[in-house]
Amino acid sequence: NSMLSWQRTAFHFQPEKNWMNDPNGPLFYKGWYHFFYQYNPNGAVWGNIVWGHAVSKDLIHWLHLPLAMVADQWYDQNGVWSGSATILPDNRVVMLYTGSTNESVQVQNLAYPVDPSDPLLIKWEKYSGNPVLVPPPGINKKDFRDPTTAWLTSEGKWRIIIGSKINKTGISLVYDTLDFKTYERLDGILHGVPGTGMWECADFYPVSEVSNEGMETSANGLGVRHVVKASLDDDRHDYYAIGTYDEKNSKWYPDNPKIDVGIGIRYDYGIFYASKSFYDQNKRRRILWGWISESDSELADVRKGWASLQGIPRTISLDKKTGTNLLQWPVEEVESLRLTSSEFNDVQVTPGSVVPLDIGTATQLDIVAEFEMDKKALEETAKANYTEFSCSISGGAWQRGALGPFGLLVLADDIRSEQTPVYFYIVKGSDGNLKTFFCTDQSRSSVASDVNKQIYGSFVSVLEGEKLSVRILVDHSIVESFAQGGRACITSRVYPTRAIYGAARIFVFNNATEATVTTSLKIWQMNSAFIRPFHPEKKRP
Ligand code: FRU
Repeated sequence: NSMLSWQRTAFHFQPEKNWMNDPNGPLFYKGWYHFFYQYNPNGAVWGNIVWGHAVSKDLIHWLHLPLAMVADQWYDQNGVWSGSATILPDNRVVMLYTGSTNESVQVQNLAYPVDPSDPLLIKWEKYSGNPVLVPPPGINKKDFRDPTTAWLTSEGKWRIIIGSKINKTGISLVYDTLDFKTYERLDGILHGVPGTGMWECADFYPVSEVSNEGMETSANGLGVRHVVKASLDDDRHDYYAIGTYDEKNSKWYPDNPKIDVGIGIRYDYGIFYASKSFYDQNKRRRILWGWISESDSELADVRKGWASLQGIPRTISLDKKTGTNLLQWPVEEVESLRLTSSEFNDVQVTPGSVVPLDIGTATQLDIVAEFEMDKKALEETAKANYTEFSCSISGGAWQRGALGPFGLLVLADDIRSEQTPVYFYIVKGSDGNLKTFFCTDQSRSSVASDVNKQIYGSFVSVLEGEKLSVRILVDHSIVESFAQGGRACITSRVYPTRAIYGAARIFVFNNATEATVTTSLKIWQMNSAFIRPFHPEKKRP
């Protein structure tokens, strides 16, 4: 066991042991951030699901609390599944969650804090009238789950959506309620997309067209766009789309039907699933939590005694420059972990070269880097023939092209027998314009054989006058990368066996055949966060 302990992270949220999946009911209450999560108290694989609970003052340092809810009722006997919190105007907290009943029927249940004056919200009570919702006619008993946070309609009712599917069309059912106990099902659906399958953990929220502050979930009106997100059970990725909410008809329409939910943009092009956003009234921002599962084998998880992390919470806002995507960025609090930094300015990386960056150990890092491609080479490529490219089907970081790949090698050892490249690749697109791709290549991330070695990535828009930029958080077995201020994100789990602790290094590389790349970087060593177990106070005699 101790041999594998290096895979544990230093500043990512994870339980002491066992299995974790979806983030649940995040909220800020009486000075504390609350985080609940799907948890198996009995092992490192999915099953026996209950709600774990932890609190934090800053979303980085955590105190684990006792389980918030366990499977102790007929209506959640097969699992206390995912759900969301709503804070009412009088500051009461209500929690809606899915229960898998004694007969494995998916129903929605209501719970609330026993003692609202307790800022830690330690004790939870389930409503005596549960379940409050059962699968409606025409909906399969196992396709009705994950209620959202509720938002107010102009009529003063609370509205939620619940994910489902009909045949292969992923859908979101809509319900209105006044008291969270009785509900009215609205005709039709908020939205659905053929071929996308079951929508897990649907999310729905407003983003501002003018401000970078977050919006309270009920906000609506001029200057507001609405985001719909679904986690596709079939392909295990979180897809979102930006569009217009028609409150009166309880419908939502994507701005661009070609980039609709489930067929267009993803929050993250690596591992990131079952995410949930919440409005942080403390700092007026919208924060996104996402579940980062393992990409080693189940046997390895059982051996190490735990599975899964949560990503560093991300602030999300509409990208005002493009108007067509969100920006995701690690919450500013993570910067409080920054220790010493090293700066490298205007480093020239010639075609085919790999340059070590001497920063000592490189297992806990926050990296900010900019890249500039030689202008002449860009012009030459713009005149050449177009090339077909996609991160996942190309040859990875060692397949050379005129203008790429170039970027960083993280979690590498001295001789680079292990390395995880995070890189850009520029090609001429079929429309005659240069296109930029952002990728992560796991094929040489570990000499171990029981790990996923895919190449992840996507197109990323780079606007006139912008440099290429990337922010990377490295934490032992996770690499979270954000390109162009968070327009495209890639999270990977990697399992180096040599590039660990004091042996981990970082390099810049340029595998382009034609062009020199100039890079400037700032790299911080990152402190560990305190993520502490719960020790009940001893009662004095
Ligand atoms: C998503 C999910 C949810 C469900 C929960 C059960 O990962 O399958 O749809 O509520 O996990 O743990």
